Amino acid sequence: EGERTLAMIKPDGLSGNYTENIKADILGSGFRIIKEIQVQLDAERASLFYAEHSGRSFFDSLIKYITSGPVLAMVLEKPDAIAQWRALIGPTDARKAKTSHPNSIRAMCGLDSEKNCVHGSDSLESAAREISFFFGDADSETVEHDE
Ligand code: CMP
Repeated sequence: EGERTLAMIKPDGLSGNYTENIKADILGSGFRIIKEIQVQLDAERASLFYAEHSGRSFFDSLIKYITSGPVLAMVLEKPDAIAQWRALIGPTDARKAKTSHPNSIRAMCGLDSEKNCVHGSDSLESAAREISFFFGDADSETVEHDE
């Protein structure tokens, strides 16, 4: 019941052993974890995931960071999940999160505007794309009628 979003714990979140704390925040905020998978992305897959940022100055550094170790991708479900998850993780720049959103996940485990330990889809369209990126289209929202 509710909207679905793609949450990802990045390599710094996994290597820093923040997974249990992050999951506690997720469940404590009323999300259901529908699916999860831990994977090591290679540069090609990472570039596909972050294709919208391919022209940016930080792109090469971002790909190096996100491929530096495994990531944990999760499908979260809750009413208004996309906005709710982004509110829970806080601003992209973890330094800003630490000062202005001290209870956010990025304040807990992030470092700066790149190493911010978690990702969240920013729209319905990107949630659909990012969920199928990690989990395929097996349970797309398509409703099939028998008639
Ligand atoms: P995310 O929310 O996963 O979306 C794109 C990622 O690019 C972002 O988190 C950061 O990890 C990274 N990023 C965004 N802005 C910057 C920046 N100004 N400098 C370095 N990395 C950035």
